Amino acid sequence: AAIEKGNYRHFMQKEIFEQPVVVAQTLRSYLRRVEQTVALPQIDFDLASINRVTIVACGTSFYAGMVAKYWFEQFARLPVDIDVASEFRYRDPVLEPGGLALFISQSGETADTLAALRHCKAAGQTIAVVVNVPTSSMAREADLLLPTHAGPEIGVASTKAFTCQLAVLAALAAHLAVKRGRLTRAEEAEIVEQLVETPACLNAALAHDEEIAGMAHLIAPARDVLYLGRGPDYPLALEGALKLKEISYIHAEGYASGEMKHGPIALIDEAVPVIVLAPSGPLFEKTVSNMQEVRARGGKVVLISDAEGIAEAGEGCLATIEMPKVHPLIAPLVYAVPVQLLAYHVAVAKGTDVDQPRNLAKSVTVE
Ligand code: G6P
Repeated sequence: AAIEKGNYRHFMQKEIFEQPVVVAQTLRSYLRRVEQTVALPQIDFDLASINRVTIVACGTSFYAGMVAKYWFEQFARLPVDIDVASEFRYRDPVLEPGGLALFISQSGETADTLAALRHCKAAGQTIAVVVNVPTSSMAREADLLLPTHAGPEIGVASTKAFTCQLAVLAALAAHLAVKRGRLTRAEEAEIVEQLVETPACLNAALAHDEEIAGMAHLIAPARDVLYLGRGPDYPLALEGALKLKEISYIHAEGYASGEMKHGPIALIDEAVPVIVLAPSGPLFEKTVSNMQEVRARGGKVVLISDAEGIAEAGEGCLATIEMPKVHPLIAPLVYAVPVQLLAYHVAVAKGTDVDQPRNLAKSVTVE
């Protein structure tokens, strides 16, 4: 059956709003809710024997991989190498025995990613894939298939596939951590509980849709927009900038908050909106001081944080968007929603072709 937009104006908008349902659908096959454990598909090798993970992907899927790097290191204490597929293949990466090579792709057909997969397979790596199309080439060639259940994604700019990838990667991080003896039963149960809460948190984030639509006119006239984040929210800043570029054609850059003073701060003036992604927590103070550096130079800040963060640092911002207070493992999924909505509404305000942006393809099957 043809996929319809229903009551939505664009596929992208529909797909943004589908996230609570498809993330729940995806998580259902990775969590045992009664036992409060993470469950992965049956595999014929021992995940505890993995000594290193190499993550390869393109575009938005690459940013999901960057978030996963923080998780695999922090929770499972596994060393992670990550690269975009087009660089990975030609830099002659060191692939030692015992390595897991992890490929992330919505389509499962992106030419560079597929070529990197075949390269790793030939080098004797165990191949895991996180894909949304179960019949795709990558799905067929994997040792460990970790499907996302986002359903068909039509909008060229990826949204629901991204959050579903994050959901699978969070479950995988927790599973690897358990296998490596880095998580107690109680800690695993807590993570499962947090993941079960995620769809409700996504709904809470989506409730800000109208408010974000009302901010679009603040961003639409800008020539440049900067996104800042730290830790697992740094890849989110990259993803936010990518979304805005892709569909509104505004030049945007994502930067690690602390790196801003090494370059992009030179761009800051009243005309450059700065979107700061900063959940309260151990990294918050540092990011706030980066935000003050922006403000001191006349920069206009849109702060995306929780109630605690906004109470502490929201004053004097151009705008604030309040997210629910969530576990650090869930934050990247939840904070994806406001950056998607912001890009979407800015594009609508500019009148661009949201679902079919110029020069871009949904699936890139040429190298
Ligand atoms: C294209 C799409 C992006 C996507 C990227 C990787 O550039 O426009 O939305 O993130 O390819 O695609 P994949 O199917 O491998 O995730």
